[in-house]
Amino acid sequence: MIQNRIAPLFIALLILSSCQSRQEALPEVAVYKTPTCGCCSKWVDHMREAGFTVNTTDLDDLSSIKDQFSVAPENQSCHTAVVGGYVVEGHVPADVVRRMLSEKPDIAGIAVPGMPIGSPGMEVEGRPADRYDVVAFDKNGHRHVYAKR
Ligand code: CU
Ligand code: CU
Repeated sequence: MIQNRIAPLFIALLILSSCQSRQEALPEVAVYKTPTCGCCSKWVDHMREAGFTVNTTDLDDLSSIKDQFSVAPENQSCHTAVVGGYVVEGHVPADVVRRMLSEKPDIAGIAVPGMPIGSPGMEVEGRPADRYDVVAFDKNGHRHVYAKR
C-alpha cells in the first residue's frame, strides 16, 4: 500500500530533478551591445525568459567584437552574443539558440542579419512580423539558412 503511494511521488521527483539539471546545463550568454540599444535589452529579456543566464557588456563601438567573432557585414545586426562557444548575432529566437546548442553543428555561429520587425526584441505593436531567416555561418564566409521564421 505505502509503496503504491510513494512510487508516483518518486517518479515526480525524478522528473523534477531531471528538468532542473537540464536548465543548469544551459551555458551562459555573453552579450556585447551599445549602452543605448533598446532592442538589445529586449532581446536579453527574451533570452532570460527562455531560461538563459545572460551577462551584458556595454561598448560604444562593436566593430572589434564583430571582427573578433568573424561576423561578416552581411550577417551583422545590433548586438553580438557568445554562448557555448558559438556566436549569436542579432535577434535570434531563443528556441533556435537551444536547437544549435543541442545539435552542435560545425559552424561559427548563427545570425539574424539586420533587425527584422517581429523578431524577438523587435516587436512593433500593430505591425505584422516580417519573414526572416536565421543564417548559420562559419569563419570562412560560408553561410546557409539554419531556420526560417
Ligand atoms: Cu536590435
Ligand atoms: Cu541588439
